[in-house]
This record gives sequence, structure tokens and C-alpha cells, in this order.
Amino acid sequence: MQKPHALARQTNDLEAFWLPFTPNRAFKRSPRLIARAKGMHYFTPDGRAVLDAFSGLWCCNAGHSRDPIVAAIQRQAAELDYSPAFQFAHEKSFALASRIAALAPGDLNRVFFCNSGSEANDTALKIALAYHHVRGEGARTRLIGRERGYHGVGFGGISVGGMVNNRKYFGTLLAGVDHLPATYSREHQAFTKGEPEWGAHLADELDRIVALHDASTIAAVIVEPMAGSTGVLPPPKGYLERLRAICDKHGILLIFDEVITGFGRLGHAFAAERYGVTPDLICFAKGVTSGAVPMGGVIAREGVYDEFMHGPEHAIELFHGYTYSAHPLACAAGLAALDLYRDEGLFARAKKLEPVMAEAAMTLKGLPGVLDVRTVGVAAGIDLASRPGAVGLRGYEIMQRAFYDEDLVIRIGGETIAIAPSLIVSEAQIGEIFEKVGRLIRAVG
Ligand SMILES: Cc1ncc(COP(=O)(O)O)c(C=O)c1O
Repeated sequence: MQKPHALARQTNDLEAFWLPFTPNRAFKRSPRLIARAKGMHYFTPDGRAVLDAFSGLWCCNAGHSRDPIVAAIQRQAAELDYSPAFQFAHEKSFALASRIAALAPGDLNRVFFCNSGSEANDTALKIALAYHHVRGEGARTRLIGRERGYHGVGFGGISVGGMVNNRKYFGTLLAGVDHLPATYSREHQAFTKGEPEWGAHLADELDRIVALHDASTIAAVIVEPMAGSTGVLPPPKGYLERLRAICDKHGILLIFDEVITGFGRLGHAFAAERYGVTPDLICFAKGVTSGAVPMGGVIAREGVYDEFMHGPEHAIELFHGYTYSAHPLACAAGLAALDLYRDEGLFARAKKLEPVMAEAAMTLKGLPGVLDVRTVGVAAGIDLASRPGAVGLRGYEIMQRAFYDEDLVIRIGGETIAIAPSLIVSEAQIGEIFEKVGRLIRAVG
């Protein structure tokens, strides 16, 4: 039955929508509304152009509403809206999987599709557990994440993740999870461009965890090659290589969560390539469709996939999947996005922009309350001092004023500002972003 007065309600009533990861009451008092987007800009309902310094949420790597992606989605919607990926398939799912495999390093050649970064992470953790099970090592059930890690919001992801607010409200999480220490130390790394010199030794903590639990109980280690959500923390030089070596020594799978770093953010298709370290599984999402249609996935090494390909041929090998795995609209958007990345050389462009980003970001050093600036690829994190008794307020005010006073969208996490524009950003726009951020830091105080 229709609710009383339902028809009388304004269509733009803000109350019904419970916004994710947002202070709802503050937002609804002073909403930041976006009506459309093109290239590097959002446009507000009253037509104001706002420079997007965060590529959506780390996702629109080719810019917003790009014509070839829009056209591909429109064509696909008319041709095939949906087909199941359980027991059936459509052609573009194979085409996209092949293209992604070709971009991934080494023998990372088997692609499992899902719809988000959270699902990608839960999928990778499940593949790791099942992999050991099918090989007769079912006692390998422990998962090792890292402090300050973000792997989405599923129970697997928050269990291996290391962000306290994402964990503390949600009960007991997965059992049998341990954490490596975070790789960040302001004392040793402040104001570093790119990968810091200090910190590779922190990978050796994995040996300590293995000694505590025994390798025979450990399934996988999962890390973001560059921790994004906790403020752009590039890996210390040599750290990932050491993790790989320790995993190899103990038969532990290494998972890279490349939901942010995949598809060009660090100047390569994947961070695994930048760092010359090949994990066993890569989680991806976001940039695969340049944010235009939800999609995520896991790329597995052939050897991982092959371990499942036993038993009767009519029997399902992995009891996992989503109604919208390899959705036709997502596959069409993904193919169009990968074409754009290739045709416009956007990964190489990101590499070229890296020093420009770094120089521009470091102009903030020395401003009042700026505790650290970190940069890598087309990404920067700026830590600000909190006001006494009001943690997060300074960052919130800067984000709010950026939108209203400076026509700029930035991301804040607590008191850290994150900047990660689309890879089509111009050098002039990079300058504009940091000039505005500098002005905001001075103004908000
Ligand atoms: C590294 C990483 N993993 C996973 C996720 C979760 O992705 P989603 O929000 O698509 O579930 C994110 C989102 O920012 C992320 O940065």
C-alpha cells in the first residue's frame, strides 16, 4: 500500500537516502549535489563547473562520461541487457577477460568477475582458502592482512583490513586473521616523493607471524601495494619483494589488492608491474570501467586456476559467483575503457605526470598544520594536524569549502586530504588543484 502523502512528497526530498560513508545530518543540512559530469569536471544542478581532483572515488581514470564508453554502454543496453554468467556466457566477457589478462604481469591469466572492490577482495580470500583445500592443505585457513589496510566493506575485507572504524562496530569478524604492521612512519618518511627508503624490514614481521602460527595454517597474505584509503602510503623500497620471498618460502599465496592501483594510477597497468613483484592473485575494480559501470574481479595465476580443474567435468569447480558477474554493460564499458587507456596512452601519461604531481604537492610543505605530504603516481596524501578535541573537523571544513568556494572536489579521510585526479588531468589543472588546496589550508586554519 502506498504510504500516506507519498505522492505529495517532493521528488528531491533528501531524507530517504542513507548515504554511505557520509555524515548524513551534516550532508542533508548542506548537500553537495552533482548533476552531471564531463572529462575533468562535475557540474552542479545550477550549472557550476567543479574540478574533480579525485577521479570520482579513485575510479574514473579516463575522465568522466567519455563518449566512447557512453556509446558502448548505450549500444550494449539495446543489444543484450543481461545474461547469466552461471552456466552461460556472452562474448564480451571472454574478450574483456583476455584483455585484462594481457595487461597483467606473468601468468596472471585467469579472470573471475564480480561487481566491486569489496567483492573482489572477498572473492580473492575465498579463492585462496579453496585453493589450499583442493590441494589437500585444508588446514591453511589463516589470512594475514595489514594495519591501515583497506579491502572494502565485506566481512572478509574488514577482517583483513586495518581501519579501526570499519571494524569495531561489526562483531567478531572472521576468525584466524592476523595483521602485519603498517609501513608508514612519519618520523622516517615524512615528505617523501615516491617510495620511502625506510621500512622494507617491516615485511620480516611476516616471518614472525609464520613462526607463531606455523606456515601450515596460513593461506594468504593480502596487501594494497600502495595503501590508498588510509592516505596514500607508497610501499617502502624493497618491501613487496621481501613479502613475496617470505610467501614463497612458506607456500603462502600473496594477494595484491589493486582496486586503486590497477589501470594506470601508478603509471603502469598494475602496481605489480611497477614494483616487479608478481602476486598470485590481483583484485581489481574501479578503473576497469573507468567507473562507468560497477565491476570488479580477481586475476589468478594459471597455476592457481589449474588446481581447481580436476574432478568430473560436469561438476562446478568453485562454488562462488554473483548474479551480475561479467554483466554485459560492465563488460562493454570495460572494453571501451581499456581501448581509451590504450589509444590515449593514459598509463604512460600517468608516469609522465608523476613528477609534476610530486612537485605541485610538495608546495604545501611548510603551510600551517601540514604534517606530511606523500606522492606516488597520480596520487598524493596530505596529513593535517587536528584541532584539539575535534578530530576530523578541519578536514571536513576544507572539503566543504573546496566544493563551495573553490569549485573543487577533494577526498578527505579523517584529517588526511587525498588527491587523485583522472589520468587525463592537464599539468595546469594539477597546478590549479594544489594552489586551491593550499589556499584552503591557509583559510580554514
Ligand atoms: C584498495 C581497495 N580495496 C577495496 C575497495 C572497495 O571497493 P568498493 O568500494 O568498490 O567495494 C577500495 C575502495 O576504495 C579500495 O581502495
